[in-house]
Amino acid sequence: MTDHLSMLNDEQKIKIQGQELLKYKFAPGNIFWIKKNNKLVRILKTGDYMDSEILYKYMNKCAPLVLERLINVKWIEEVFEHFMDLKHAKNLNEQIDARAKILKLIGKVYWHGLAEGSLIDLINLGEKVFFKIPPKITRELYQGEMNFFKMNALTGIVSVLFSLTVGYMDFEFLEDIYHVSFFVDYSLLENKIDWTMKEAIVLEVKTPGEGVKELSKQTGKENLNRFVSHPGQSYLGVKEKIKDLFNTKDCLHLLTKHHEALNGLGFPFGLAENQLSDLESIIISSSRCFQSDKELIPGDGKEFFKDIRKFISNRISVALKSCFESKGDSNISKAA
Ligand SMILES: [Fe+2]
Repeated sequence: MTDHLSMLNDEQKIKIQGQELLKYKFAPGNIFWIKKNNKLVRILKTGDYMDSEILYKYMNKCAPLVLERLINVKWIEEVFEHFMDLKHAKNLNEQIDARAKILKLIGKVYWHGLAEGSLIDLINLGEKVFFKIPPKITRELYQGEMNFFKMNALTGIVSVLFSLTVGYMDFEFLEDIYHVSFFVDYSLLENKIDWTMKEAIVLEVKTPGEGVKELSKQTGKENLNRFVSHPGQSYLGVKEKIKDLFNTKDCLHLLTKHHEALNGLGFPFGLAENQLSDLESIIISSSRCFQSDKELIPGDGKEFFKDIRKFISNRISVALKSCFESKGDSNISKAA
């Protein structure tokens, strides 16, 4: 807890009515409630799903909430406009033009580090451009594990950006690959997942193969099977229950491969990088970029795409370099 009066001297921390915050799906910064003794209690962390039940609980106490604002509204608005140009593009040239403008703005911060930027800006951008999961399904997903929901939002927009760098520009496809990320662990989230299972997921993302190894030491066969079969089970569950969310079923197959690893140590098939399609490499690479227990902090987006190259597919790494280091829009266009 912190004395709120001294905190409010910082212009990033503003008093705000709870209603205003409800327009966001992911917290645009840390959100605090002011206690009677003027202490601040953090009720939501940056990027957390804006649970209206939590917000209403504190809004009913009549005092405004405090937002420690992290998002860069102007930058997000600018990239959003280019995504809308991509969505409404009438021909290939307009698509190429919109793509180049998006990648130029992304590259400035997330590759070159020439401007400040945070990962929460990417989450917010993804939300603004694509998010269309109905509230009932959203609740199912994030109650399974709140941190996973936030990380999946980040993975989703990073999959979109990887796809753009590789050359995919169809808006409906991008919308689908964004949403696929939210359902990677769908079959596990149907029931409340226990600590051991949660650890296995986190460990598997960090070092493919290790999550399964640890889980087999600590738990029974049934739990292990549930984990090892979840890529296939999630695919079947989404195909049956969630299919209307997606423009086509093409992207859903990617769910079956999300735990394959580039070095062949993943599961269930143990495929190596040269056995994976571009799209499979994209989903595997984006899911390797984030640890769900890591807090989002200001400036954590600077040079992000350069830093993650050690975790991702060589194909995508080359595509990123070629897009972000090309001179001028004509070269970016050629890469498409
Ligand atoms: Fe998974």
